Amino acid sequence: MEKTSLIASPIAAEMEQFRTLFSHSLMGDNPLLNAVTEHIMQRSGKMMRPMLVLLLAKLLGEVNEVTHRAAVSLELLHNASLVHDDVVDDSDKRRGQLSVNALFNNKVAVLSGDYLLASALVQVATSRHLGIIALVSKLGQDLSDGELLQLSNIGQENFDESVYYQVIRKKTAVLFAACTEAGALSVAADPSTVEKARQFGELIGLCFQIKDDIFDYYDNNIGKPTGNDMKEGKLTLPVLYALNHTADEEAKSIALRVKRGEATPDEMAYLVEFAKTHGGIAYAEEQMMALHQQAHSFLDAYPDSPIKTALQTYLDVVVNRTK
Ligand code: IPE
Ligand code: IPE
Ligand code: MG
Ligand code: MG
Repeated sequence: MEKTSLIASPIAAEMEQFRTLFSHSLMGDNPLLNAVTEHIMQRSGKMMRPMLVLLLAKLLGEVNEVTHRAAVSLELLHNASLVHDDVVDDSDKRRGQLSVNALFNNKVAVLSGDYLLASALVQVATSRHLGIIALVSKLGQDLSDGELLQLSNIGQENFDESVYYQVIRKKTAVLFAACTEAGALSVAADPSTVEKARQFGELIGLCFQIKDDIFDYYDNNIGKPTGNDMKEGKLTLPVLYALNHTADEEAKSIALRVKRGEATPDEMAYLVEFAKTHGGIAYAEEQMMALHQQAHSFLDAYPDSPIKTALQTYLDVVVNRTK
């Protein structure tokens, strides 16, 4: 069977219901807002987060109304963060089409991103599950905190891997952790299982962002621009590793210029090559695979089933995906 159907088949009916709820959650009577949401809905994303909520709930119990509300809420919050992210990163492409800021403008993107964020809270409130409501609200704080941390780090003259991990944990991994935690909470799993589920999601999210950061070093067709990180002053794991393990004063001074937003396109190209030839990509892949291995061990505790296979395949897709 195709990898994607190994993941999708055991939750096909649930995803169908999810899609209906998700599209209803975005219906309003404001023409400008509707134009924005239609644009977003026309090319949906990979739906990695709602699939994860449903898979965890089904691994540990039965998908129910609370699971669905959590899945809709988390996908809405993810979309809100992307609409805002493209303003912050000054990025004109998302999911193979124009970003909201590029098609409309920054004002429309900020305001409709706010609407999506508020809709995420409306959806989670209808679940009436206080634990999940608290979790989604805290998540909103963490995601912004992560983005702000990343922004402050741009101006700092350091090449710390630990800061990199702190940023990706907050801006990306917490969202995946919230998906697995909410999935587990929605089926009333016991506290220790909920905590293990949360850690499992966090590991997935770390792998996911390391993979995403590796994409940025190549000219590939992933539906959004590549080479954007250095343009925004961001140094990610491959180049951090190369900088910390090679005595190359020129590379270091270019890296500082990247952080100050002063590097030329040729200098950035030099730094990308430098990261590649000094083992940066290989190192980032090794780190990702170690986290991937840890995530797999969470699943070892469960008996074989189509849902377990779906989750194992999901993990493999996160690290082997091409977009
Ligand atoms: C993009 O996430 C944001 C990151 C965490 C890198 P996805 O790649 O899951 O986005 P969509 O929803 O599929 O477009
Ligand atoms: C990923 O941010 C996390 C969020 C969207 C909040 P990035 O800026 O690294 O993601 P892409 O590459 O634009 O999707
Ligand atoms: Mg960003
Ligand atoms: Mg971005």
